[in-house]
Amino acid sequence: MPADAIRAVERELVIVIPCMNETRRVIEGVLSGIPHDCLIVLVSNSGRTPVDRYEIEAQTVAEFCRLAERPALTIHQRDPGLAAALKVAGLPEIIDEEGLVRHGKGEGMLVGMALAALTGRRYVGYVDADNYVPGSVNEYCKAFAAGLHLADSPYAMVRIAWHSKPKLQEGRLFFSRRGRASEVTNHFLNQLIAEHSGFGTDVIATGNAGEHALTLDLGLRMRLAGGFAVEPYQYVDLFEQFGGVGDSRHPDVMASSVGIRQIETRNPHFHDNKGDEHVKDMRLQALNVLYHSSVCLPPVREAIGEFLALAPDAEPPRERVYPPVGSLALDQLLDVLASEARTFRQIERCLPEGVRTDPPIRRPDVGLGMGGRM
Ligand code: GDD
Repeated sequence: MPADAIRAVERELVIVIPCMNETRRVIEGVLSGIPHDCLIVLVSNSGRTPVDRYEIEAQTVAEFCRLAERPALTIHQRDPGLAAALKVAGLPEIIDEEGLVRHGKGEGMLVGMALAALTGRRYVGYVDADNYVPGSVNEYCKAFAAGLHLADSPYAMVRIAWHSKPKLQEGRLFFSRRGRASEVTNHFLNQLIAEHSGFGTDVIATGNAGEHALTLDLGLRMRLAGGFAVEPYQYVDLFEQFGGVGDSRHPDVMASSVGIRQIETRNPHFHDNKGDEHVKDMRLQALNVLYHSSVCLPPVREAIGEFLALAPDAEPPRERVYPPVGSLALDQLLDVLASEARTFRQIERCLPEGVRTDPPIRRPDVGLGMGGRM
């Protein structure tokens, strides 16, 4: 892969870091792994009392950017100004009973996608804030750029299948091939494809890929699910909208096709282990969105029902699904963010002489997306 091709993609790539109560040193490592030309966007849902963890995160990003001469954006998911901005822009569904943006990783990622769209860049990628190894983060971003460079459609996605996920077992490291949530999600997504095609397959290896990137041309047309249903639902939404089973509202996309490239990286994926209940929860959310999909065939639904030990006639709960970010009025979103969101920080690239250049968001770029037209 030519280095200048990779660099050209990185200049157009926004890396969103969803973050909730991760440690400062780990976040610093993640920041340092993101290639220099990518724009950093941190969307935090961290606690603000008794210690304001968001303030620590925002300062960490600002200090890193000052030293590395980079621009960035940061925001807190529960900022009332953000809720007001999303409401005005046309997304009241994302607001909860407290009048704030709902908790959830998918919700944070949606905010990240909206901010990415405001920057006028072409691509958005996601990297979790709990990645312990900066070198892995760097490899994920390089793989994003390589995959996006190779894409032959403007509607493209790259999903990372990490080489292994190490765990401590009886005092030694065990390099497990797949995570416990992914194993189950991949199994049922593959069964869905097999039922449609009539051929058994294990083509899907990235049902839960937290690390992934896509063109904004595609991302702005996709519906996003809330919480941890977000990644599995990306497949479900692509099958529903562009799989050719139902009608598509986007003949332009159908004419080009949607390319999904799964790239296996070499570094092990070391991250914070949040426990068994958390894994079970992620698995459930994945199966819920698949079960309720309009493209889910009866044998897959039955198999999911059996796996979940559902009583006859019982159904799993539905997850929240939001309309595409491209349907929002992005110019209005920016107006309200700028005037009301107190946690919204735009860190400009600051050259050594103190000359301020390269603001992450330039007004004339806003509104060039699809705001309000989808
Ligand atoms: N902004 C925001 N809002 N970030 C959140 C939220 C939220 O409500 N909840 C979690 N995060 C952040 C975490 O701080 C972390 O950086 C990242 O999202 C992933 O959350 P974890 O709770 O650490 O999930 P995980 O590491 O067990 O699972 C990850 O890998 C799975 C695949 O193995 C996630 O990326 C999953 O989405 C993914 O399916």
